[in-house]
Amino acid sequence: MADYIRIFDTTLRDGEQTPGVSFTPEQKLEIAYQLDRLGVDTIEAGFPAASRGEQQAFKEIVKAGLKAEICALTRTLKDDIDAALKCDAPYIHTFISTSEVQMKHALGMTTNQVLEATVRAVEYIKDHGVICEFSPMDATRTKFPFLREVCMAAEEAGADRINIPDTVGIMSPQGMEDLIRRLKQFVNVPLSVHCHNDFGLAVANSLAGVAGGASQVHVTVNGIGERAGNAALEEVVMGLHLIYGKKTGINTRLLYATSRLVSQLTGIILQPNKAIVGENAFAHESGIHTRGVTVEPLTFEPFSPEVVGRRRRLQAGKLSGKHGIRAELEEAGLYPTESQLKRIVQRVKELGDKGKTVTDADLLAIARTVMGEVEEEKIVKLTDFAVTTGIRVIPTASVKIVIDGKEYIAAETGVGPVDAAIKAIQKITNRLANVRLTEYRLEALTGGSDAVAEVIIKVEDDEGNVVSARGAREDIVMASVEAMINGINKLLLKKRKKS
Ligand code: KIV
Ligand code: ZN
Repeated sequence: MADYIRIFDTTLRDGEQTPGVSFTPEQKLEIAYQLDRLGVDTIEAGFPAASRGEQQAFKEIVKAGLKAEICALTRTLKDDIDAALKCDAPYIHTFISTSEVQMKHALGMTTNQVLEATVRAVEYIKDHGVICEFSPMDATRTKFPFLREVCMAAEEAGADRINIPDTVGIMSPQGMEDLIRRLKQFVNVPLSVHCHNDFGLAVANSLAGVAGGASQVHVTVNGIGERAGNAALEEVVMGLHLIYGKKTGINTRLLYATSRLVSQLTGIILQPNKAIVGENAFAHESGIHTRGVTVEPLTFEPFSPEVVGRRRRLQAGKLSGKHGIRAELEEAGLYPTESQLKRIVQRVKELGDKGKTVTDADLLAIARTVMGEVEEEKIVKLTDFAVTTGIRVIPTASVKIVIDGKEYIAAETGVGPVDAAIKAIQKITNRLANVRLTEYRLEALTGGSDAVAEVIIKVEDDEGNVVSARGAREDIVMASVEAMINGINKLLLKKRKKS
C-alpha cells in the first residue's frame, strides 16, 4: 500500500454533472484557486469538447499557474482530445465504456473496437507529451478478463495512470478491495478509484480501493456529482489520514471553508448530519455529551473540530445539562450565577419539551433576560394574564398582579394586544410609580412563526430614573409583558434603594 495517496478532485467536472448545477467560468476559477490552496494533486477542470464556456474556463484555470495538475476529460475521440490539447491541457483523462451493457447500448461498439479506440487515444495523447489517465468506464460491471485486457492495452500504449470507475456505485468495499488487488497483479502503472454513491458506499469503496493498492482517489467537495454523487473529498481525506494512516497533500484546516464555498456556489445546502462539514458534525446537545466534551473533548469527538477548520458547538435543548449551557454562555461572555443558570436551563428545557430547537441566539436571549431580572425578591409579580384580539374585536388584556403580597386585577384595551397588556400593567403599577415606556424593540431570533421573540424596552419614572429590560418568549405579547414587569421591578428597586 502506498503511503501517499493522490487526491484527484473532479468537483469542476463530475461535480458539475450534479442535476441543476452549472458553474460560470469565474466560479470555476474561484473554486480551482480554493482547491489549489487546499492542496489537491489534480483538478479535473472540465470537458473542453462540451462547449465554448468550458474551453474558456479550462484555459483560464491552466493559465492561473496553480500548483495542482490541471486535467481535461475526453472521450477516446480524436476531436475531444484535440479540443483538450487546444486548451493547453497538460493532463488528459480519457474514458470509454467497457461493460457489456454500455458497449452495446451506449456505444454500439464491440470489445475489439473498444480496445482499438483505447490504444489509439492513449497513443495520440502520449504523442503530444501530455500526462494520460485512462478510465474503462463502468469497470466494476465489466467482465474481469476484458477489464484486465483493456487496462493492459492502455498501459502498453503509454497510459501513466489507470482509473477504475464504479460508474453506477454498485460495489461493496470488500469487492472493491479485491478488484484493485487483482488488477494490480497485471497492471504496473498506478491505479486510481472513482466511486459513485448510489448505495451510500462511495467513501467506503474509495477507502477499500486504497486498501487494495490504489494510490489515487477521485473525489468531489461535499460529494456532489451525478445522481447520488461521488465520494466526498472531506470524508475520504479524513478517513485516509485518521483511520488508514495515509498521507495526502490536503491542508485539512481548509476543508470547511472549501465545503462552504462549493455549497454557496452550487446552491446545494448540506444535510446537517453530513460527516466532517455538516452543521451538526461537531454539535453536542445531551447533558452527558456536553459535560464530557467540556471536560475532555475526546470523550465524544473522534478528533478536534479545529483540524478541519471548525469549532465545537454546544446546542441547548431539552437534553442539555447545566454544564453545557454554562460553557456555551461563557463562550459568549455571559457568566450567570448558579440560580440564574438554573432558571435558564429550566426555560431551555420547557422550550425543548414543546418541540422547539433552541438556537444559539435563542439561548442568549433567554440568558440575557434571566440575567437582567432582579435577583432580590421581586416587588411586582405577574400571576395571571389573558388577552383577546381579532378583526372585529377591540384588543383587550386583563392582568392579575401581586405587589408586596397584595393582589390587584385590571383590564385595558389598546391598539393591539401588546399595547393593551402594557396599559393594563401600568394601570396597577401606577399606584407605586408612574412608569412610562420610552423605547420598545422587538427581535424575532429564529426563522419560524414559533421563533423566540426578544423584546428590549426602556422605561422611565417621574423622578427621571431610566432602566432597560428584556423579555424572551415564543409569544410576542408574553415577551413584552415579561420585559415590562422586569423593567418596573428594576425601577421600583432603584427608587427603594435611593429612599
Ligand atoms: O463515473 C464515471 O464512470 C466517470 C467517468 C468519466 C470516469 O465519471
Ligand atoms: Zn463519475
